[in-house]
Amino acid sequence: MTSNAADGSYGDNLDTAYDLMYAGRPDVATLPSFCRSIGPDASTVLEFGIGNGRLAIPMAESGFHVTGIDTSQSMIDTLRARAGDLPVTAIKADFRNQSTDDVFDLALILTNTLFMLETIDDKRRTLAQARGRLRVNGHLVVETYDPHVYLERPSPFSVTLPLGPSMLLTDTVIVDRLKQMV
Ligand SMILES: C[S@@+](CC[C@H](N)C(=O)[O-])C[C@H]1O[C@@H](n2cnc3c(N)ncnc32)[C@H](O)[C@@H]1O
Repeated sequence: MTSNAADGSYGDNLDTAYDLMYAGRPDVATLPSFCRSIGPDASTVLEFGIGNGRLAIPMAESGFHVTGIDTSQSMIDTLRARAGDLPVTAIKADFRNQSTDDVFDLALILTNTLFMLETIDDKRRTLAQARGRLRVNGHLVVETYDPHVYLERPSPFSVTLPLGPSMLLTDTVIVDRLKQMV
C-alpha cells in the first residue's frame, strides 16, 4: 500500500489508526492556550493539513473558528462527523495552492505536516500561501522537530508499536544525509 499526502491517500489510509498513533500527545490540551498567548484577540484560524480534527476540535471547543485544508476525504469525513455544530469548516484541496480568499488571525502548520512536502520549493510555496491568508499582524505557527534526533541513529531503522489489540504500526525511517531528507 503506497500513500501520498498530495493526492489524499496518506490520510485515507491512516484515518482509522491516526488517533492511536498520536494518543497521549500534550498538544491537544496545550494548543488553544498557546494560541491565545500569541494572539489574545485572535478568533479565526486556518489549519494546513487539518486531518481528522485532532487539534482543530479542541481549538473550536475553546472558542476559535477553525477552517482547515486537507486532501484526504476520509480525514475530512471524520472531522465533519466529530465537529457537529462546532465552528469548523473543511476545504478539500492541496494546500500548496490557494483554496480560500478569506484572511485569518492565525495560520497553523502542525505536527509533521510541513515535512510531508518533499521539496524546498513546496515548503516555500506553502509558507507563502499561509502568509497570503493572514491579516495584518496575524501569526503563523509552524511545528518542527530537531533533525539531529534522526541523524544520530543508524539508517534505516524500524520501530514497531502496538496501537491496539489488533493493530501494529511499523515505522521505518531512512535518513539521506546528502539530500538532507528523513
Ligand atoms: C500529520 S497529519 C496532521 C493532521 C493534524 N494537523 C494533526 O496535527 O493532527 C498531516 C495532514 O496533512 C494532510 N496533507 C499533507 N499534505 C497535504 C497537501 N499538500 N495538501 C493538503 N493536505 C495535505 C494529510 O492528508 C494529513 O491529514
